[in-house]
Amino acid sequence: MTHKNILITGGAGFIGSHVLRLFVNKYPNTHFVNLDLLTYAGNLENIKDLENKPNYIFEKGDIRDAGFLKKLFEKYRFDGVIHLAAESHVDRSIENPLAFVQTNVIGTVNLLNAFKDLWKEDFNGKLFYHISTDEVYGSLGKTGLFTEETPYDPHSPYSASKAASDHFVRSYHDTYGLPTVISNCSNNYGPNQFPEKLIPLFINNIKHNKPLPVYGDGQYTRDWLYVIDHARAIDEVFNKGKTGETYNIGGFNEYTNIDLIHLLCDLMDEKLGRLKGQSRKLITFVKDRPGHDKRYAIDATKINKELGWQPAVNFEEGLSKTIDWYLANDKWLSNVTSGAYQKYYEQMYHKR
Ligand code: NAD
Ligand code: TYD
Repeated sequence: MTHKNILITGGAGFIGSHVLRLFVNKYPNTHFVNLDLLTYAGNLENIKDLENKPNYIFEKGDIRDAGFLKKLFEKYRFDGVIHLAAESHVDRSIENPLAFVQTNVIGTVNLLNAFKDLWKEDFNGKLFYHISTDEVYGSLGKTGLFTEETPYDPHSPYSASKAASDHFVRSYHDTYGLPTVISNCSNNYGPNQFPEKLIPLFINNIKHNKPLPVYGDGQYTRDWLYVIDHARAIDEVFNKGKTGETYNIGGFNEYTNIDLIHLLCDLMDEKLGRLKGQSRKLITFVKDRPGHDKRYAIDATKINKELGWQPAVNFEEGLSKTIDWYLANDKWLSNVTSGAYQKYYEQMYHKR
């Protein structure tokens, strides 16, 4: 690691917390600043173990605030940025698209400007790494995989905002010579994911014997990757990736939602000592998500061939570890599902 001062945005969130942990522990001679607004999705409990590390500091702040970012960049003179902060949930983007434009698009452009204004044209040894999603590529039919050359075709306000931010990052590379790199990853799962996304929501509902709201016919396909495998990929891209390039990251692990939910129910029955088949009875088919993408699947050949990365955790093992984490971290779960979460759940699911 040649970088001295790295900014990680969104480090109190799900993926950001795992990335921070990996980097802070692996690179003791590099200083890491975690910038996070601590929205509903950000939680300092996720990174409590890092609090007293000498190479780590937390700064609470908003990437939508350009003036704040300018001062922060002048204070720390970041030679590297790993940008994860975002509004990240598709269903919320359908309710409030503008929040996604403000954080994901304007917030990203603010960061690019702060980086550009700090270094002027002296970009040698610097890197701006933007974390994106496979959802920018749109939806696949029964066959085929997303490659780095697949044209962008977003369908949700979330994926549209991420696509726009990717375009801005590339435009700053091409126009101002910013050293940028982008990776587009498939669906992550693992500890510390906010229980609005499919896997942690359903773990929580199964535990409490609440209905499992399956959108549409459940025949939608996602490519699942364990979050620590994603963090390892981010490490490879940050340290070995070529500037100006894009890397797709995926698990080579496709599941239809209904098959995944069956597996989850069966694993939970075992772990909770329930009769086999009991949790499956909670499955409830509800109104579909509008604009629902049928299938995502990543071709991760490039990152494998060029950077030597591949997933290490197999899905059943990762899912089992994830369930164990949620069952062992009851306090974390009850903290994040109290208050505002209850209102969110009522609002989102009473109409489906
Ligand atoms: P998350 O919602 O768990 O965390 C987002 C974090 O960003 C939170 O800590 C939140 O407080 C912070 N944040 C939000 N708005 C902010 C603002 N205005 N200023 C500063 N901080 C702010 O998200 P996640 O699932 O960890 O995703 C992280 C990144 O990875 C996102 O860019 C997302 O698009 C991308 N991604 C996610 C997945 C996935 O499956 N979760 C897959 C591929 C890519
Ligand atoms: P999600 O975890 O929201 O991730 P994304 O939409 O970014 O892929 O959803 C994963 C899949 O699960 C998606 O096809 C929508 C579906 N889903 C449900 O069927 N019910 C739910 O309550 C949720 C949150 C998702």
